Amino acid sequence: MIDTTYETAEQDQQLSHTSSKSCHPVTTLEIPAYMNEVYDWAYVNPAWVRWLDHNIVVKTLLFGNDQRMMRRYLERIRPGMRVWQVAHVYGDLVQRAARRAGPEGCFHLTDVTPIQIAHGHSKLDAMPWTRVIRQDAALYAGEPDRHYDLICNFMLLHEVPDDWKRRIVDNMLAQMPAHGEVLFVDYHGPARWQPVRYILKLVNRLLEPFANALWEHEISSFASEPERYDWHKETLFGGVYQVVSVKHKPAR
Ligand SMILES: C[S@@+](CC[C@H](N)C(=O)[O-])C[C@H]1O[C@@H](n2cnc3c(N)ncnc32)[C@H](O)[C@@H]1O
Repeated sequence: MIDTTYETAEQDQQLSHTSSKSCHPVTTLEIPAYMNEVYDWAYVNPAWVRWLDHNIVVKTLLFGNDQRMMRRYLERIRPGMRVWQVAHVYGDLVQRAARRAGPEGCFHLTDVTPIQIAHGHSKLDAMPWTRVIRQDAALYAGEPDRHYDLICNFMLLHEVPDDWKRRIVDNMLAQMPAHGEVLFVDYHGPARWQPVRYILKLVNRLLEPFANALWEHEISSFASEPERYDWHKETLFGGVYQVVSVKHKPAR
């Protein structure tokens, strides 16, 4: 049963939140303005979210590339790893990632909207090594002295304004330990021969005002100090998607 205690942004802004399973300090978090202004129907309004939170929706939105994009993430998770996924994704990705980390590891999910947090709880609460935390990916500071081995941003960057992109990228990189990895799976500028390019141009114009920035700029350009890291980019589906892995440069 999904907990929809926090049904509206207005109610929510008066309330404090934390995971039911955590003893973390309570944080008061407002839903970012872009969520209410642009994505209310997709991630804020519980009535819509209930209809959208299914694997078939993700498959359709990603033109059937969902499994190979998710594989790039899931294959990196080994039992015992500490994993932070910075935002909820519809369907069963969070359970699959949490199961791969397993009880010897941990899987922490952050998100900014109450309904996504409720869906995260309903998917993960049966696995005691998981936590669902209501926090902005640009601000979440993790747990003191306990680093994440893998930090994954699956299809979030294209949905946030550029200043938020910078802060999220910097925050993820700041939390990457020497041996760790930060992973971005997101849109990219499609090749001109790729017919999906022209569909997405229209979608971006009508529904995704922050997505074009990922067609025009490398994800590394949103980092304050990109030169400090090794960046590796793979593109998929004629350049429609990118998988960017970031690691610390090897010590000399
Ligand atoms: C990962 S993105 C898009 C994923 C994809 N369209 C899907 O769900 O299949 C959507 C999620 O990002 C969350 N979100 C938006 N801005 C955020 C932020 N600054 N920090 C954390 N989560 C955020 C939304 O609440 C939503 O649950």
